[in-house]
Amino acid sequence: MDDDIVRSAPLFAALDEQAAASLRESMVEVALGRSETLFDEGERGDKLYVIVEGKIKLGRTSNDGRENLLAILGPGEMFGELSLFDPGPRTATATSVGDSRLIGLGNDAFEPWLLQHPEVAQTLLRALARRLRRTNETLADLVFTDVPGRVAKALLDLSTRFGRPADDGILVAHELTQEELAQLVGASRETVNKALADFATRGWLRLEARAVVLLDIERLKRRAR
Ligand code: CMP
Repeated sequence: MDDDIVRSAPLFAALDEQAAASLRESMVEVALGRSETLFDEGERGDKLYVIVEGKIKLGRTSNDGRENLLAILGPGEMFGELSLFDPGPRTATATSVGDSRLIGLGNDAFEPWLLQHPEVAQTLLRALARRLRRTNETLADLVFTDVPGRVAKALLDLSTRFGRPADDGILVAHELTQEELAQLVGASRETVNKALADFATRGWLRLEARAVVLLDIERLKRRAR
C-alpha cells in the first residue's frame, strides 16, 4: 500500500517510517461504489477502517424494518473499532454513500501493534471519547430539541465535514437522499422536508439535488440551539 495513503489518515499521520512500514503490511485497500455495503449490523467484526475518500453511513434497522442513521463519516475518520476493543457483533451497518476508498486493518495484527504504539492508542481513545460526547448530545437533542432544530444541527454538522466555500455561502454536497437525511435526524421525511422548505423560504439555505448551500449560518446556529 502507498505510504501517502497511510499517512493521509490523521490516526497515522505522526508515525515514523518504521512504524508505518510495519503497519502497512496488515492493511488492505477497499474501494466501494454508491450504496455498496461494507458490513452488516450483527456480523462478526475483524477489521477497523479508516476513510481515505468518500462518505460512509452507519445505520441500524429496527425489528419492524425502520432505519436510523447513527452518523455520516468522511475522510480521515475511522469506524469498526467497537468490535476490536470489545469483541462482539458489529453494532451498525456500514454503507458507502457515493464512491469511497478505505483502509482496512485486521484486528489480529493491529491489536499487538497498538500495544507498541501508545500514541496511536491515545488518538483512538480521543476519537472514541469525541464520539461518545456527540452521541450524548444527539440523545439529548432527540428528547429536548424539535425537528427543525435537529435539521439545522445536522446540516451544520455535515458542513463541518463536507462543506466547501461557494459564492454565496457554504456548499454541503452531502449526497444523501431526503429519506436518508430524515433517518439521520430521527424524524419522518415529511417533517424534515417541511423544515428544509421553511429554512429555504426564510433565505437561510438553498436546496439542491443531494446538496444544500447554507446561506445564513448564524440563523441556523441559533435555530439549532
Ligand atoms: P463496530 O461495532 O465494529 O461496527 C459498526 C461501527 O459503527 C462501530 O464499530 C463504530 O465504529 C461505529 N459506530 C457505532 N455507533 C456509533 C455512533 N453512535 N456514532 C458514530 N459511530 C458509531
